[in-house]
Amino acid sequence: MKNFSHPLMDNNFTSSDILEVKKILQKKNIVLTQSKKVEEFEKKWSQWLGVKYSTFVNSGSSANFISISLLKIINKNKNKNEIIVPTLTWVSDINSIIMNGFKPVFVDVNLNNLSMNTDQVIKKINKKTLAVFITHAQGFNGLDSNILKVLKKKKIHLIEDVCESHGATFNKKKIGTFGIISNFSFYYAHHMTTIEGGMISTNDKKVYEISKILRSHGMLRESKNKIFEKKIIKKYKELSPKFIFLYPTLNFRNTEIGAAIGINQLRSLNSNNLKRTKNFKYFIEHLDSSKYWNNFDFRGSSNYAFPIILNTNSLVKRNNFEKILIKNNIEFRRGNAGGGNQLRQPYLKDFIKNIKIKQFKNVEKIHFFGYYIGNYPSLKTNKIKKIVNVLNRIKF
Ligand SMILES: Cc1ncc(COP(=O)(O)O)c(C=O)c1O
Repeated sequence: MKNFSHPLMDNNFTSSDILEVKKILQKKNIVLTQSKKVEEFEKKWSQWLGVKYSTFVNSGSSANFISISLLKIINKNKNKNEIIVPTLTWVSDINSIIMNGFKPVFVDVNLNNLSMNTDQVIKKINKKTLAVFITHAQGFNGLDSNILKVLKKKKIHLIEDVCESHGATFNKKKIGTFGIISNFSFYYAHHMTTIEGGMISTNDKKVYEISKILRSHGMLRESKNKIFEKKIIKKYKELSPKFIFLYPTLNFRNTEIGAAIGINQLRSLNSNNLKRTKNFKYFIEHLDSSKYWNNFDFRGSSNYAFPIILNTNSLVKRNNFEKILIKNNIEFRRGNAGGGNQLRQPYLKDFIKNIKIKQFKNVEKIHFFGYYIGNYPSLKTNKIKKIVNVLNRIKF
């Protein structure tokens, strides 16, 4: 196919975004660091999601890190130090747990939604379990009624990583509204972008107040709770009130430019998601199910990518599959979300000495035979037809 190419993402940054940036740059007395636009974006994002509060940060991984730091601050029972996470997730979900001094407890994922196996989650809950950190991978909803019921009954926190699933729903309600905290990423390759960026959302006032402090050096003056601020200033009389640092953290702030782009991108998020969902259904329905797993549960899903899981278990055939994609200029990533089984990554070696990697069968399958390719709003049915044709002609 001459001149054919299918990138992971196409034109996620539009000319109207450039106009918004220009407007900011042309202002008199220009302020570019975090200010009014950031607050406006946070309010608009909260309205779109259906939560009370949000905190705009400089990446999805910063949102992950702040969320787990927050758990550490609000956790009263220090014997609770385990957080259950899926083996298929982004590196920062697990690193946030480790870097905050908690123990990650791993579970396998389901092939039909790439999210954590909730039966395994329930089995691994014990007296030390502080939280479940779910990843709604690649646009799929990972929640079910049973897990929500168990977590509520056992008073275990749910944190939702929705960095890959903006707009997906469970029981017609947006995911990211079920947990005590949820995280989103606005990296270029996701549903919407602020170039780099992320959001922490919550209905919990205390969580919201602390998130503002954690975003900005742990600085008390960022607090949204003026009574609390006064109390601390009084307590630390020897400190300059503008330089009181409450918690160990870093600077995770974003900018007015990022916020202006975010507000503009948010305007087309719903319509773009509808296009993506239509594309996704077409793609899955036309893929040859004798060659590719197609039993995905796309109820409420909002996919920014097309997942592909090969039915074969032959590495030779897999390598041939990759060669054909490269030849046809179809960009791909192996391992679906985050490169497959996180337990195989070098950064985790010292933390998982007694864990048998191969027991997590589904993530192992995804690690070696799972892929994703792009699904962007400007993608037309004709092009999907060509891609499906290439895939369905491959011999396994
Ligand atoms: C599930 C998940 N969580 C967190 C992140 C981190 O987001 P960011 O790249 O904005 O740091 C990503 C990134 O792609 C992700 O896929």
